[in-house]
Amino acid sequence: MQNQIFAIAVDGPAGAGKSIIARLAAERLGFIYVDTGAMYRAIALFCLRQGIRPEDEKEVSSGIAEAQITIRHQNGTQRVLLNGEDVSGQIRTEEVGKTASAVSAYPAVRAHLLDLQRGLAASASVIMDGRDIGTCVLPKAQAKIFLTASPKVRAMRRFKELKEKGEMCNLQEIEQDIIERDRRDMTRKTAPLKQAPDAVLVDGSELTIDQVVERIIREAVFRGLKVE
Ligand code: DC
Repeated sequence: MQNQIFAIAVDGPAGAGKSIIARLAAERLGFIYVDTGAMYRAIALFCLRQGIRPEDEKEVSSGIAEAQITIRHQNGTQRVLLNGEDVSGQIRTEEVGKTASAVSAYPAVRAHLLDLQRGLAASASVIMDGRDIGTCVLPKAQAKIFLTASPKVRAMRRFKELKEKGEMCNLQEIEQDIIERDRRDMTRKTAPLKQAPDAVLVDGSELTIDQVVERIIREAVFRGLKVE
């Protein structure tokens, strides 16, 4: 749809709908969708498999030297590889998500993934989602969105997702987990979750997925993206 390299950063808390929205916007624009949370999840899976304790920063920081993360795109879908093995399915568990939240606080883990993230944005137009894309990974991204939704709305969405998968779950526990994960992601010292000064805030609590996708595309066009 365009021939300039353009980057859209989408940051926000867990469960705000970043990945589905960023994936749809990427499809519409012919961009590559990059899910950086999947990279942290792959590191978390590596730690869990190796018996590396997530609460031990030293152990994690030295252990991950053996974890090589690579990304492939197949029909517009991102696949994440851990030492050559496609782990895209295995990283989608609550345990891996919680471990990812813990280990992503360590500077060595963030440094381990930074080149991969920047390299992807250097070679093609991307819409990249995460927590620190607009603030740290791609501070020069042409368009930046901070996508949020209330903890109640996010918990309800997660609850429905788990129910559909037939998993046992409790709405209040999910909401508590979300609040706790937000707190951890926002208060860590390295690259905390926060809105970049030049990002637009989009509260998706009362919006449909399509409305948020439209909002992102409008922002990108406003920031200079040429679409046919
Ligand atoms: O978006 P997600 O739930 O798949 O992310 C899993 C964890 O990874 C999340 O709790 C925080 C961390 N993360 C991060 O610190 N920085 C990013 N750019 C993306 C994710």
